Amino acid sequence: RRQPSRRGSMADVPHDMLQEIKRLEDMFTVDTTKLKAITDHCVSELARGLSKEGGTIPMNPTWCMGFPTGHETGTFLALDMGGTNLRVCEIRLPEEVGEFDIIQSKYRMPEELKTGTADELWGYIADCLQQFIEYHHEGEKLDQLPLGFTFSYPATQDYIDHGVLQRWTKGFDIEGVEGKDVVPPFQAAVAERGVPIKLTALINDTTGTLIASAYTDPEMKIGCIFGTGCNAAYMEHCGEIPKLEHMKLDPDQLIAINCEWGAFDNEHKVLPRTPYDVIVDKDSPRPGQQAFEKMIAGLYLGELHRLVLVDLHENPNVKIFEGQDISALKKPYSLDASFLSDIENDPYENLQETHDRFESLLKIKCTKPELELIRRLAELIGTRSARLSACGVAAICKKKGYKTAHVGADGSVFNKYPHFKARGAQALKEILDWTVGRDGKPLGRGNDPVEIMPAEDGSGVGAALIAALTLKRVQEGNL
Ligand code: GLC
Repeated sequence: RRQPSRRGSMADVPHDMLQEIKRLEDMFTVDTTKLKAITDHCVSELARGLSKEGGTIPMNPTWCMGFPTGHETGTFLALDMGGTNLRVCEIRLPEEVGEFDIIQSKYRMPEELKTGTADELWGYIADCLQQFIEYHHEGEKLDQLPLGFTFSYPATQDYIDHGVLQRWTKGFDIEGVEGKDVVPPFQAAVAERGVPIKLTALINDTTGTLIASAYTDPEMKIGCIFGTGCNAAYMEHCGEIPKLEHMKLDPDQLIAINCEWGAFDNEHKVLPRTPYDVIVDKDSPRPGQQAFEKMIAGLYLGELHRLVLVDLHENPNVKIFEGQDISALKKPYSLDASFLSDIENDPYENLQETHDRFESLLKIKCTKPELELIRRLAELIGTRSARLSACGVAAICKKKGYKTAHVGADGSVFNKYPHFKARGAQALKEILDWTVGRDGKPLGRGNDPVEIMPAEDGSGVGAALIAALTLKRVQEGNL
């Protein structure tokens, strides 16, 4: 979809600022050639991650072996430890194909918990589970309920009900958890409170998204999260995974791979990083990691915008926020992705809401040209995020030789950031050189060969389905 024209309104933007806008456009725009180069490098990195030597992208086998049939049944708990909320669900999968019932409660995940102690984290999660059970099953005598735990961080799994945290991502920084299996301390906290649950599967949100979406759509090939973090999972053939060779698995057997593509290009070979990306990385709890994610994911979009504005203010050649106190803007992470969404949603005519938000939140009174620059910058950062995301999707399609595919996507950026979907679709079209749609007719709405679409609830229904698939395999003696 074409963006509304801005050109007219830029007429009253002073020369120094126009020059600055041009510089930012050059810096943040990723053209087709670059998109293709990034995609090709990503294809080889996906393969390297599956090799015995390993690569930069973890490509974690998840032991979720194949797609659901739609006939999964039973009652399961699902626990989703997201960045902002903790969600507990009870899901009933009835006999009817592709159906489910769900009850759920959300608990706030206190910010301090992200940098607190491991005991506090597991204790808090177990308390929430206990509350949920007490509320929904008051006075009932329960057998142990199977639980799918969506733990959306990179984990090495030798079995589906265990996972060694490789490293924290998304701003988490809790000591003593990295390098260890997260399941025993979690189970211990739960057991201490006498909560009748048994962890059946530890899953990633991307795997959950893939499985939940495939439950109702047989075309579903990839599950993606574009939210606080950014990542994808897809089904790989065991025969294509040299690092699992020693396990002598059936080469045709499918296994979900959690790519952890946020780590793509940590060695800075191909991504067009700006000086602002360098600062985001340097000032993060884990410098040198998640290079791709830090350019794309919701956690960082507002921060990039903020860093540019502060830099322009400090540049003597550009007159922006002249004579104003920008101390509120100087606070790291004071702008979030929803702030940027709102800027992009603000009608062009007067950018009144943006003006008011800057005044109320940051105590900065913006002039019209400043508002124009703020708006253009949000567009550049949001567009770059969508276009780089498309490289990851295109890379998996290329690796697997998918000419057509449905891609299930979830996360705040995908669901709420204006134009994210259209910008991503446009980039896919450029990378994959489509000329006709999946039905052979001209490209148009709904017939893109690879389509990124809203996913089913991965960390609820997906987690329950994976728990169901796991129990079935256990019963069949297949583990
Ligand atoms: C981060 C995590 C990854 C997760 C993604 C989306 O990249 O490392 O496991 O899937 O965020 O939540």
